[in-house]
Amino acid sequence: MSETTPPQEPSAPRRSIRTTRRDFLRGMGLAAGAATMLPSLSAPADEAEATPDAAPATPGLRETGRGPRKIELRINGQTHSLTVEPRTTLLEALREHLQLTGAKNGCDRGACGACSVLLDGEAVQSCLLLAVEAVGKEVTTIEGIAADSRYARLVDAFCAHDAAQCGFCIPGMVVGSAALLNRNPHPSAADIREGLAGHLCRCATHPKIIAAVQAATGTGGPT
Ligand code: FES
Ligand code: FES
Repeated sequence: MSETTPPQEPSAPRRSIRTTRRDFLRGMGLAAGAATMLPSLSAPADEAEATPDAAPATPGLRETGRGPRKIELRINGQTHSLTVEPRTTLLEALREHLQLTGAKNGCDRGACGACSVLLDGEAVQSCLLLAVEAVGKEVTTIEGIAADSRYARLVDAFCAHDAAQCGFCIPGMVVGSAALLNRNPHPSAADIREGLAGHLCRCATHPKIIAAVQAATGTGGPT
């Protein structure tokens, strides 16, 4: 006698495993928030409730817990207090909370360099960094570079070489060039191309940008 196969349960609808970049960032934000702002999450609930006033682990973070946070950011030599969601990117904090609109949102995914700022002297893409990750560090935006006489020659060279067409990429290009010059005061043309490799100019003025950086550093190009 043959065995009968029990009827199969209808399978549950399959969920898409496709993850958008925003989902990814949101997950990163939650992870970073949990790591930097919610040290009590991993503790038992009664233990977390027993220490509500525990000092935050990161200087500048005034509160722990869920929801919007008060943070302090050092930007262009000044301290700014602001309230942000844990998922707020540094670019959003600069543009939407502090009206520092020099850093541009070109792609919102780390592909163009238009959002670049200096973080402790190194160029970073502020669209990929959470605002809470910049706490305790020195942020320098294009506004700070433009006001800093140490970069006057570089900024002037971009103008003198007519390096901008629409100008959208230029703040990021100047920030990237400033970071390069911090590392290497006398870069060759190849060094400049490599240093600005993550910066895209949709108007294709790269040759003029490279010439401007060369002129600013005395490493070649028309003056
Ligand atoms: S906006 Fe950040 S890299 Fe393009
Ligand atoms: S000058 Fe237009 S994107 Fe660079």
